[in-house]
Amino acid sequence: MFAALLVFAVAASFVVHADEEIMKNLSLVTWAHAVNNKTYLEASLASEVSMLEADIVLGHVTGKDGPPIPIMAHPPATTSDLTLADFMAAVAQYNNVNAKQKGVKLDFKVIDAFEKSQEIIARFSKPEVTFPLWLNADILPGPIKATTKPVDPDKFLELASKHARAVLSVGWTTAHAPNSSEGEYNRDQIGDMLRLLNNHRINQTVTFPLRAGLASNSQPVVLDLLRETKYLNSSMTVWASEDDPIEVERLRALILTVGLERTYVDVPRELSARLKLPTPGLNTKN
Ligand SMILES: *[C@@H]1O[C@H](CO)[C@@H](O)[C@H](O)[C@H]1NC(C)=O
Ligand SMILES: *[C@@H]1O[C@H](CO)[C@@H](O)[C@H](O)[C@H]1NC(C)=O
Ligand SMILES: *[C@@H]1O[C@H](CO)[C@@H](O)[C@H](O)[C@H]1NC(C)=O
Ligand SMILES: *[C@@H]1O[C@H](CO)[C@@H](O)[C@H](O)[C@H]1NC(C)=O
Ligand SMILES: *[C@@H]1O[C@H](CO)[C@@H](O)[C@H](O)[C@H]1NC(C)=O
Repeated sequence: MFAALLVFAVAASFVVHADEEIMKNLSLVTWAHAVNNKTYLEASLASEVSMLEADIVLGHVTGKDGPPIPIMAHPPATTSDLTLADFMAAVAQYNNVNAKQKGVKLDFKVIDAFEKSQEIIARFSKPEVTFPLWLNADILPGPIKATTKPVDPDKFLELASKHARAVLSVGWTTAHAPNSSEGEYNRDQIGDMLRLLNNHRINQTVTFPLRAGLASNSQPVVLDLLRETKYLNSSMTVWASEDDPIEVERLRALILTVGLERTYVDVPRELSARLKLPTPGLNTKN
């Protein structure tokens, strides 16, 4: 009993410390992507990364039938060896026994999957569960005509706002921009997002996933977006695909203007190295 309490106390102090660090150093948060199967989930939990990003669709556990359930898979896949319920249980179990918490970013590809996941998410959005829980969806059409259909924004926000402790990660659909000098987030797209958050009376932490190349072409409107949502402790999450063309200097300027304390950087390792962001703590003033 005593030993158990001691372990708990040590864990709690580590957690607070780790959270504080991350609060001031969002750009230090590291990512595992498409954690959509058991093998990779185990590897990610055993690794140093702080956030596990995973995709949710409705489908079946390989070899089983019955009604479709929320599973970890990226479209067009509809089977997986990992359900959302098992994924969340494994992460929670890891966090119960490890001092350094790992968070999850659940990327919902279709509204049906989100609707059918409510009960599972609710188990982990209770105030006593403390690991970072992000609910992500592209809820608006964005720059560069994407073929993906946005997730129904009203349904998504209505349900997501019931999980008060979850971070809402809401963005725009995009397509791979073959030419980095083209494409930007525009004023109308930003305005649509602000209106949605306002109409749904969103009152929880929000982050905006922005495709790095497009975001760096859109600094003025990105700054507007973040200023208008400061009351939501908003941040941006810049992300890029492996082969996205990026003007590194322009992206670096955006990140430093917004600030490392308001920017999650989720880009390929090679791009991250080229960004040469200042080590926070050594040189935080820009
Ligand atoms: C498991 O997921 C990882 C990361 O998405 C992927 O690279 C790997 O091929 C997957 N393994 C199986 C067996 O699907
Ligand atoms: C982008 O595309 C336009 C025409 O589509 C071309 O003129 C321009 O050179 C391209 N820029 C880059 C950086 O590739
Ligand atoms: C937002 O949530 C906080 C904490 O839950 C609460 O104190 C505040 O009154 C809420 N604000 C609005 C505008 O609902
Ligand atoms: C923003 O952060 C402050 C300070 O941590 C907190 O009191 C408030 O509830 C947060 N509001 C939102 C919407 O996240
Ligand atoms: C950010 O992280 C670095 C490295 O872990 C640390 O030295 C620094 O104190 C942290 N905080 C700020 C505000 O930079």
